[in-house]
Amino acid sequence: MDGSYNTVVFIFVWLLTLSNVDLCICNASSEVQCIPIERDALLKMKCHLSDPSNKLASWSLHENCCIWALVVCHNITGHVLELHLTTPPPFEFISGVTIDKTSMFGGEVHSSLLDLKHLNYLDLSSNDFAYMQIPDFLGLMTSLTYLNLSHAGFGGSIPLQFWNLSNLIYLDLGGNYNLKGSIPHQIGKLSNLQYLDLGGNEFNGSIPHQIGNLSNLINLHLGNGLLSKSVENLQPI
Ligand SMILES: *[C@@H]1O[C@H](CO)[C@@H](O)[C@H](O)[C@H]1NC(C)=O
Ligand SMILES: *[C@@H]1O[C@H](CO)[C@@H](O)[C@H](O)[C@H]1NC(C)=O
Ligand SMILES: *[C@@H]1O[C@H](CO)[C@@H](O)[C@H](O)[C@H]1NC(C)=O
Ligand SMILES: *[C@@H]1O[C@H](CO)[C@@H](O)[C@H](O)[C@H]1NC(C)=O
Ligand SMILES: *[C@@H]1O[C@H](CO)[C@@H](O)[C@H](O)[C@H]1NC(C)=O
Ligand SMILES: *[C@@H]1O[C@H](CO)[C@@H](O)[C@H](O)[C@H]1NC(C)=O
Repeated sequence: MDGSYNTVVFIFVWLLTLSNVDLCICNASSEVQCIPIERDALLKMKCHLSDPSNKLASWSLHENCCIWALVVCHNITGHVLELHLTTPPPFEFISGVTIDKTSMFGGEVHSSLLDLKHLNYLDLSSNDFAYMQIPDFLGLMTSLTYLNLSHAGFGGSIPLQFWNLSNLIYLDLGGNYNLKGSIPHQIGKLSNLQYLDLGGNEFNGSIPHQIGNLSNLINLHLGNGLLSKSVENLQPI
């Protein structure tokens, strides 16, 4: 009698332990929680963007911004690492004219992005920002390694601050058609660049020879713009 009682207690305790272990595993693999200040930054950003096809619907439904659409957090720290605010096809480009704008992001890119101190991947490509000047503050986001502003309808010149983004590995500004001005010699400071697309814009002047300093460059696109006329100025170092 005593023996079987002990066995029952033992099994009971053993089951309890098992369920505790289960709880622990459950907790450990539960979703990483987002940082409140970063969630607020994203919500502010959403307020200023136009989002006609409501791709950001999930951004207010849940507290935890790490499970929002188009957001990637660090799987342990919960810091926002990536924003994929691109509009995937179907859409078409015909000689620079975007045919279907109905699902594209537009409006304003808000400086609350600066609160995402760990952001390394920002994709705003294939959108319609209506020839808006590329925001200067993007040039302060030095954590970025990937910046894609291609085919996004930006205009004006590249902010000088951009050439301080020395961690960039990918910089895609292609196909905005309305980006103007010259490419400054400071481009040589982006020494980690492997991918650079400035094509399909209206940059003028010559290509600074400092581009030859970009020794990690694997992909370089400069064509379909005024710049291509002066490629002969390129002096490899
Ligand atoms: C388990 O998760 C809950 C809610 O997410 C949290 O409050 C608690 O601190 C976690 N426990 C451990 C041991 O991580
Ligand atoms: C976190 O992500 C990295 C890759 O970014 C992966 O190697 C690692 O296993 C992940 N850790 C956890 C706990 O999921
Ligand atoms: C940038 O985005 C465009 C369109 O979404 C894509 O075709 C291109 O490959 C991207 N560039 C890089 C460097 O990933
Ligand atoms: C680039 O960074 C340097 C040093 O950090 C700073 O002095 C300079 O003002 C920055 N340039 C721009 C255009 O922000
Ligand atoms: C180009 O590289 C040379 C040698 O590595 C360096 O001295 C120079 O400062 C670099 N120029 C720019 C603009 O980064
Ligand atoms: C480039 O274009 C601007 C006008 O957008 C003009 O002021 C400037 O003189 C041009 N520079 C060269 C080198 O052609």
